[in-house]
Amino acid sequence: LRENDPVYLNVLPNGQIGWMITRYEDAVEALKDPRFIKDYLEISGADKETESVFTRNMLYADPPDHKRLRGLVQKAFTPQMIAGLRGRIQEIADELLDNLFGKDSMNLIDDYAFPLPIIVICEMLGVPSEDRDKFRVWSNTLVEGSNGENFDEMYIHMSEFIQYLGQWFAKVRGNLGQDLISQLIISEDEGDRLTESELYGVVTLLIIAGHETTVNLIGNSILALLEHPEQLKQLQNNPELIHSAIEEVLRYNGPVEFSTSRWARENLEFKGKSFARGDLVIIALNSANHDPNRFDDPEIFDITRQKSQHLAFGTGIHLCLGAPLARLEGEIAIMSLLKRYPQIKLKVDKNELEWRPGMLVRGVKEIPLS
Ligand code: HEM
Repeated sequence: LRENDPVYLNVLPNGQIGWMITRYEDAVEALKDPRFIKDYLEISGADKETESVFTRNMLYADPPDHKRLRGLVQKAFTPQMIAGLRGRIQEIADELLDNLFGKDSMNLIDDYAFPLPIIVICEMLGVPSEDRDKFRVWSNTLVEGSNGENFDEMYIHMSEFIQYLGQWFAKVRGNLGQDLISQLIISEDEGDRLTESELYGVVTLLIIAGHETTVNLIGNSILALLEHPEQLKQLQNNPELIHSAIEEVLRYNGPVEFSTSRWARENLEFKGKSFARGDLVIIALNSANHDPNRFDDPEIFDITRQKSQHLAFGTGIHLCLGAPLARLEGEIAIMSLLKRYPQIKLKVDKNELEWRPGMLVRGVKEIPLS
């Protein structure tokens, strides 16, 4: 597609017109183009009250709401704030690795890549540690449940999740602290900065982002390094390469395959194609990150690649808010694992690894290591 039909038109089974953008330069332009909007309600004209509370957050908002919603949480995610978490993230990585002491094999995802970012985001949000497992189930349902399978189960999980959030917010309200939820609740109480349903939406987004992305950055990094033993050796001999190595994994094997949905706000021309108001627009981030017009030898995994400016975190106003956190977690997780287990090996054939279902997330379900 990237070569022959880079702005690709597809008619979805429900009749919706969808466009897929696959080239790097076009992807950057589309991600920054204000004519492609996130708020579907503006297109459908539906009442805001009919919309799911889970989507009332910055990722599904356009200016000026976007700026207001992002501004409320941005302070907690600045590079300086995140750098302050380094010590705690290192402690968590070390504790998880200590738990594996004496075992001759591990499942990288369940034992390490998954718990690490969860503990971090749950601590940032102030989620009680005994409730973390429930969040895993809910977060998975929100991401994978949207495939349309097991609708009843999805409905039950979502009702439980909404009920839990309501009780949790009430508890925090009675005992406000320094955590992010308390800060958001204070914003809500201050009046028009955050509505009750936006509070649900923003918290849900942070929980999903914290559960579903960095896990796969850690998993995809180890997979790419094990598949390229000479690169692994180079990293082990030159640990300072970890920064460019993480950037290269994000480019080569990014955890988020496609952007979230955008919609043409009006009838418009883009790259010589005519879009109608309401057309769906998706940007293929991983395809753009393999565009030979932007990256030399894009299929080569090279941890010394410089200034790659990949699109794994998107770009424009929706550029990933959690990028500094994800990078730091990825770097600490990979280096700590390689230091403790310099000889790690994949325990099964690479073809036996099972990829996660769904279009959005790119990562494998389990990575058995010995
Ligand atoms: C947005 C990727 C980790 C929070 C995005 C977008 C991408 C992305 C591609 C933009 C989507 C679009 O424009 O359609 C990733 C990747 C991650 C990661 C690859 C890990 C490797 C995180 C983490 C958090 C986070 C750890 C926070 C806990 C967010 C938020 C947005 C976002 C809040 C919405 C920003 C906005 O709309 O202004 N992320 N993300 N992400 N991400 Fe991440």
